[in-house]
Amino acid sequence: MGRVSVRDIRGMKCRGEKIPVVTAYDYTSAQIADAAGVPLVLVGDSLGMVTLGYENTIPVSMEEMLHHSRAVVKGTSKAFVILDLPFLSYQITDDEALRNAGRALQEGAAQAVKLEGGQRVSATVKRIVETGIPVMGHIGLTPQSVHVFGGYRARGQGKKEALELVRDAQALQGAGAFAVVLELVPAPLSRLITKQLDIPTIGIGAGPHCDGQVQVFHDILGLYTDFVPKHTRRYAEGFEVFRSALEKFIEDTRSSVFPSEDETVSMDESVIQEIEKTLS
Ligand code: KIV
Repeated sequence: MGRVSVRDIRGMKCRGEKIPVVTAYDYTSAQIADAAGVPLVLVGDSLGMVTLGYENTIPVSMEEMLHHSRAVVKGTSKAFVILDLPFLSYQITDDEALRNAGRALQEGAAQAVKLEGGQRVSATVKRIVETGIPVMGHIGLTPQSVHVFGGYRARGQGKKEALELVRDAQALQGAGAFAVVLELVPAPLSRLITKQLDIPTIGIGAGPHCDGQVQVFHDILGLYTDFVPKHTRRYAEGFEVFRSALEKFIEDTRSSVFPSEDETVSMDESVIQEIEKTLS
């Protein structure tokens, strides 16, 4: 069986089959997601904060995205892999946007790209899609615009902004996007947008009515302790599991319980004796 395709994703929406999406940033997390059967894997620019320790997604470069994407694609054989186009890789000109979207497929080995914005990027989306590159939209809270929003706050709670988001979603569908992420949008609004669109909506903090849900790998596996977003459910206490395993390793090393004979390369003791004789 090959990878999930855009056609499969369309089929999921038609059948009312909910679509789980998880981020992955490296070979190992990608293998875990693929083995679990996650159909869509997003190499999100959230990797800047999660794996590179940046304050937000703005410093993330195209080179960094390509580097992580290659690893994720190598770690998956079934999932459809989407590379998140980073800040300034698609906003300057449509030519540059197309070049970078092309690099996502050629150098990053991804199957699709994601970019942030609605009506203002719809012409760019159209150009990329017409070239044969599937595009996922992203509206609502768009983290690359954090300084315009003044923080990571919900979008679309008032009538004017809600209507704009409906128009954004329609513009992305009109431009040929295969799906659209709705981030931190009130549930009744994402229900309305989901009903309006033929393409799937993938929510994050957007309630249960979306066609799918996207979550950050490290959030749902509890891989850090300092920050738990409201829209996340922890399915594991990864940080604690790994920390206590490492504590055990330290203890076993210090007490020489590790490594055991089974975990060691063997050698005939007589060889060592001969070497000792030679040395003396
Ligand atoms: O970068 C990211 O991980 C994302 C998702 C959370 C939608 O854009």
